[in-house]
Amino acid sequence: MTETMSMMTEHARECAEEIKRYDEIQLVSHIDADGITSAAIIAKALERYGIGYKMLFVKQLDENIVKKLTDDAPDLVIFTDLGSGQLEHINNYGLNAIVCDHHRPQGENRFHLNPHLFGANGSYEISGSGTTFILATQLGNNHDLADLAIVGCVGDMQYRKHGKLVSLNRIILETNPDVISSKTDISLFGKQTRPVYKMLQYSSDPFIPGLTGNEDACTDFLSRTGLQFSNDERWRRWIDLCDQEKMKITSSLLQYCMQNGMSSYNMGRLVAEGYILLGEKEGTEMRDATEYSTLLNATGRYMEAEIGMQVCMGDRDKAYEQARELLNNHRRNLVNGLNFVKENGIKELSHVQYFDAGKDIPETIVGIVAGMSHFSAGNRKLPIIAFADKEDGHKVSARGTQELVNRGLNLADALTIVCQELGGAGGGHDIAAGATVPFGKKEEFISKLNSTIAAQLTRA
Ligand code: C5P
Ligand code: C5P
Ligand code: ZN
Repeated sequence: MTETMSMMTEHARECAEEIKRYDEIQLVSHIDADGITSAAIIAKALERYGIGYKMLFVKQLDENIVKKLTDDAPDLVIFTDLGSGQLEHINNYGLNAIVCDHHRPQGENRFHLNPHLFGANGSYEISGSGTTFILATQLGNNHDLADLAIVGCVGDMQYRKHGKLVSLNRIILETNPDVISSKTDISLFGKQTRPVYKMLQYSSDPFIPGLTGNEDACTDFLSRTGLQFSNDERWRRWIDLCDQEKMKITSSLLQYCMQNGMSSYNMGRLVAEGYILLGEKEGTEMRDATEYSTLLNATGRYMEAEIGMQVCMGDRDKAYEQARELLNNHRRNLVNGLNFVKENGIKELSHVQYFDAGKDIPETIVGIVAGMSHFSAGNRKLPIIAFADKEDGHKVSARGTQELVNRGLNLADALTIVCQELGGAGGGHDIAAGATVPFGKKEEFISKLNSTIAAQLTRA
């Protein structure tokens, strides 16, 4: 793996040499946590080197955006966390570009930094932010940005396959112990910022039968552990507890989950490695990589990625306050989205299950809702497909499991194949992918996808 890192670093050095020839660069990045951290990493590195930049965030890169970019005639464009799937358009329009991405490549470019070209898998070995971090290390001493690299890959859930970061992500983590550290702990969301009972109540990954969504059950459960939770009339957060209290709750929770029929797979996920940003204040979202990435998603997925980027660049005043407001809104939307799926149900075909959110779930978060529903309401034996209305077609978000991927599932391939037949465009990773399909082709799409996936799942 260190060899892959050396090869990527060597190509990053060539890309960096190219970058240094310019005074002003157009940056283009994706609106999710990985894209926002990638943007902040490259922007900081350029700023430190003394190169100016303009920023553009996009939901996805398509021919229209490439064309619009060409009209502005930038000297150089750096694409981060996207671009590898659209190299054909980038080349056709003659854009002078550096592509720094981890999506499955389609096409070629002279300056293309992507783990897949070096034998690594961009769905779990390194993300857009890690790839951009490697580029940044070749533009100067930017090792302090390793924390953002980890926030990005955590946002893309790259720890899921092995229950922790591995491979290139692990190298970035372990070679920068002064900025980021790992700790095995309860895996529930909100250890820094939520009162413990709320951390249980809102747990969705894993979903805890009997506790998730039930405030009274959570406070009862906690009082049965015999621990005092009100301190100065304030509910304590996980980080406020001493190690003994944490251990007691964790073991009671494991016992509770066993008695309440949680699968052994999910029980195994209740304790996991988490990542702490050592330079951030305790009790803030930015201290914990998962909470930080959710804060960023809460900006970008509502077309406010610049706010998230400012937080990444160090703003702890106005931008941070705005991001926290957006986070409340994001949480409400996720809860509503999950309820929508629960109320409307998920339809099963032989090899896929799906739901159609229409206009009820914003298309920018339907993938997150699909992923969460897959754990709480879905059948883990089938991939889950979500539809939501978009201005130019039906947005499709697809999520699988590692087990299905081991049996041959490749959602990026499947969506690409079906889109080639029906029109539309898609891409992503084996385990998670997305696409836009033309209006009116939903039924045909799902049935063709069902048979395409059936053909993929040939391994026992
Ligand atoms: O845009 P992009 O590559 O950045 O996003 C990756 C997507 O894959 C995320 O939505 C993430 O939640 C999803 N994913 C997943 N399961 C994994 C790895 C990634 O659902 N094991
Ligand atoms: O949008 P969603 O979260 O479902 O995206 C899942 C993965 O598929 C992400 O990695 C995203 O970048 C990718 N994707 C893509 N082309 C699309 C939509 C999504 O490559 N049209
Ligand atoms: Zn990404």
